[in-house]
Amino acid sequence: MSDVILPGAAIGFLGGGQLGRMAALAAREMGYDVHVLDPDPDCPAGALATEVITARFDDPQAAARLAQSCAVVTIEIERIAIASMESAARHAPVRPGAAVLAVVQERERQKAWLRDHGFPVGPYRSAGTVAECEAAVAALGPSFVKASTGGYDGRGQVRVDRPDECAAAWRALRATRCVVEQALDLAAEVSVMVARRPGGETAIFPVALNHHERGQLAWSVIPAPVDARLSEAAAQLGRAVAAAMGVVGVLAIEMFVLGDQTLLVNELAPRPHNSFHHTIEGCVTSQFEQLVRAVCDLPLGDTGLLRPAAIANILGDAWRDHRPPDFAAALAVPDTRLHLYGKRDARPARKMGHLAAVADTPLEARARVLEAAGRLG
Ligand SMILES: Nc1ncnc2c1ncn2[C@@H]1O[C@H](COP(=O)(O)OP(=O)(O)O)[C@@H](O)[C@H]1O
Ligand SMILES: [Mg+2]
Repeated sequence: MSDVILPGAAIGFLGGGQLGRMAALAAREMGYDVHVLDPDPDCPAGALATEVITARFDDPQAAARLAQSCAVVTIEIERIAIASMESAARHAPVRPGAAVLAVVQERERQKAWLRDHGFPVGPYRSAGTVAECEAAVAALGPSFVKASTGGYDGRGQVRVDRPDECAAAWRALRATRCVVEQALDLAAEVSVMVARRPGGETAIFPVALNHHERGQLAWSVIPAPVDARLSEAAAQLGRAVAAAMGVVGVLAIEMFVLGDQTLLVNELAPRPHNSFHHTIEGCVTSQFEQLVRAVCDLPLGDTGLLRPAAIANILGDAWRDHRPPDFAAALAVPDTRLHLYGKRDARPARKMGHLAAVADTPLEARARVLEAAGRLG
């Protein structure tokens, strides 16, 4: 049975960052109203919303208020308290639901879930004390110590080479529980994005090839210019993870590729993902429109590729002495587009926007977007 939520209804977003903003843009294009809950009254999605609830993500009453005024509620960040998800769910469907978020929002639980479901993950151990961390590094060798909660964009993790570095890492992370992952020699990183409706219909986007710098995504391109067998294996793995998770909405699956082409699942995100922003330019349906269609139980859109497309993030570092970067120079690169998120403070490493480019091949699209990014100054 389908309870389609038709345009005209309000979609509630728990979280009002850039992912919410771009999803809200897609929702508005389709004629939906948008309400947003975020602790920051000037959050990026706020400009697209008719109602902004300024509240913490662990305020269940505020989440209930959001849900009361909306036909469906979705999330754009994993940091929503489970109590808020449950409280919202008493008033409107919350997609994805609390059960999915509970598995994904703690790194330790997510890893265990992946392992218990038979999905390939790299060697790792959980640690609740410095001593356990030291034992893990002694066993695994050079590792990434990752706080179980709150990390993103490479924040919340520290690379350690020896056990005696664990105490400092533990202090720096202010951690209570960590996942200690063996540092792997990566040949590449790819990601997969799957959308799923309440009834189980799914759609998958072309596999993306991603490049990270200092733990943060720098650029991404579709379709991944890799061996077709590797792409197909990544897509299959992504589909299997999404099916096992039973997510409603979208699920991004980040993967590591080892030198022998082995795929490992790195981490999951049940929301739009930075490595699929190029679906706006490159695909018939963007990841943001797909999220709207999935949570409203509309037929999913065609994920087919229109043209190879790439994105490069614009970080706050590009603002020197409060002067904006040279957007005009960047946009002089053919087939390049600019997306800015409306953030006032250009702090170092903060994602302020991204550039996108399309071309005849993925490598040309990447070259174009990197050329444009280089011109920002
Ligand atoms: N075990 C690892 N081995 C090698 N590189 C890693 C490992 N863990 C993380 N990285 C690098 O750091 C990036 C960010 O790590 P990730 O676990 O995805 O955290 P975040 O939540 O910050 O995205 C990865 O995309 C990868 O480039
Ligand atoms: Mg990641």
